[in-house]
Amino acid sequence: MMQKFTLLFLTCALARVTNAQSVFAHFMAQNSYSYAESDWTNDMTTAQNIGIDGFALNIAANDYEVDRIVDAYAAAEALDFKLFYSFDMSYTWQQSDMVNIVANHSSSPSTFLWKNTILVSTYSGESYGEDFWASFKSALQNKGIDITLAPAFTTYRDPSSADSLVSTFPSIDGFFNWWSWPADVDANLTTATDLAYQAAVSSLSGPYIMSVSPWQFKNIDGAGDWVEYSDTLWNYRWQQAVNYVKPDIVEIVTWNDYGESHYIGDINPNVYLGTQAPLYVDGFTHAAWRDVAQYYISWFKTGSAPTITKDKVVFWYRAWPKAVECSTGTLPRNAAYPEDAVFALAMLKDTATITLAIGSNTVTFTAGAGVTMGSVPFPSEDSQIPYIAISRDGTIVVDTHGSMYVNQSGCTYYNFNPFVGSVSE
Ligand SMILES: *[C@@H]1O[C@H](CO)[C@@H](O)[C@H](O)[C@H]1NC(C)=O
Ligand SMILES: *[C@@H]1O[C@H](CO)[C@@H](O)[C@H](O)[C@H]1NC(C)=O
Ligand SMILES: *[C@@H]1O[C@H](CO)[C@@H](O)[C@H](O)[C@H]1NC(C)=O
Repeated sequence: MMQKFTLLFLTCALARVTNAQSVFAHFMAQNSYSYAESDWTNDMTTAQNIGIDGFALNIAANDYEVDRIVDAYAAAEALDFKLFYSFDMSYTWQQSDMVNIVANHSSSPSTFLWKNTILVSTYSGESYGEDFWASFKSALQNKGIDITLAPAFTTYRDPSSADSLVSTFPSIDGFFNWWSWPADVDANLTTATDLAYQAAVSSLSGPYIMSVSPWQFKNIDGAGDWVEYSDTLWNYRWQQAVNYVKPDIVEIVTWNDYGESHYIGDINPNVYLGTQAPLYVDGFTHAAWRDVAQYYISWFKTGSAPTITKDKVVFWYRAWPKAVECSTGTLPRNAAYPEDAVFALAMLKDTATITLAIGSNTVTFTAGAGVTMGSVPFPSEDSQIPYIAISRDGTIVVDTHGSMYVNQSGCTYYNFNPFVGSVSE
């Protein structure tokens, strides 16, 4: 009897400190300048509806972001949505400001806890050195606040550097691998970095956080002009997460970094994006990518592929072939890598025929229940709109046209950001 009681007690205690697999989205707090509490509520509700547990708040400075985060916490508490900080250490930080920011909402029920301690992450920060991170943790501890530090030290990407990460930074408890795109190569991303760093932190108390991202394209003077090969990344990266890496936490990169074209949140017209990003963001909605996320988030959390109950195709494509000359902007680094094609992910409840057509090109393929990638190359004709159809037994279940033209001319700014659409029964 006594033994049974002790066992039960132990089991409960263990259950309390074990975290379920969680999914967060990286949220650029810099883009919240124009936000009212209702904007946070909208974003959080949209995220929560697809299974996202919370936002990792990328905070760049002790400025207006701190005030907006007060609203973020109010919105999050009403929704039981979670938040943790991802300090953007590519900016200059005073340690005391970081300590105050973490301490300020430390007792909020929306502050995300990892094994009963506050999870704190970063973008970069290795150049601040081990002493900085050790004293950051002890300053918080002196206030009675224990944190779990899982930073994204971005120079740690090579799998062979994983052990030196842990020996160089004894104060870290976990790791966030930021790198969710191929590294300037015309090849798909592998899980080599994930597996090496996951193993390196496996004996520590903190989580291995894996980033999953749909795309990478930027074209801003002074901030970078590049594209990474991302044609089918949003499908295979999730498969890497659910089938092979199975990290403690998936962090979707990002919710709202419009300038790097990896946003899965809606384009909020009140957010000021400077003068150049809007030239490749406006009209290039990514909302339907959330349908793909919802499917894989469920898979990640339950450990098995969810049953699909409604036939759907999510598709994405750029609006100009890569060789088209544009009158302004910069031809991005790696511009030769993306394929000139419309990509489509069939998400089916049962076997069906998928038709993808654009101009004089048509591709048909049979896809089974579950998810199947397909594509159709861009045609040579100008001003074409893709056509996507799901049919079964010779009858069209549902079909649609994309709502963005693929043009061979008329390009006024180099744009490798895709338009994302969907069709669903
Ligand atoms: C702490 O929160 C209060 C409101 O609760 C806010 O006014 C203040 O700016 C915040 N300070 C920091 C450092 O987060
Ligand atoms: C990347 O993987 C996809 C299948 O997921 C394949 O069709 C494509 O050819 C690969 N790309 C390269 C550059 O190997
Ligand atoms: C492509 O051309 C069509 C027809 O001229 C035009 O309506 C459309 O705006 C163009 N698309 C883009 C993305 O510029």
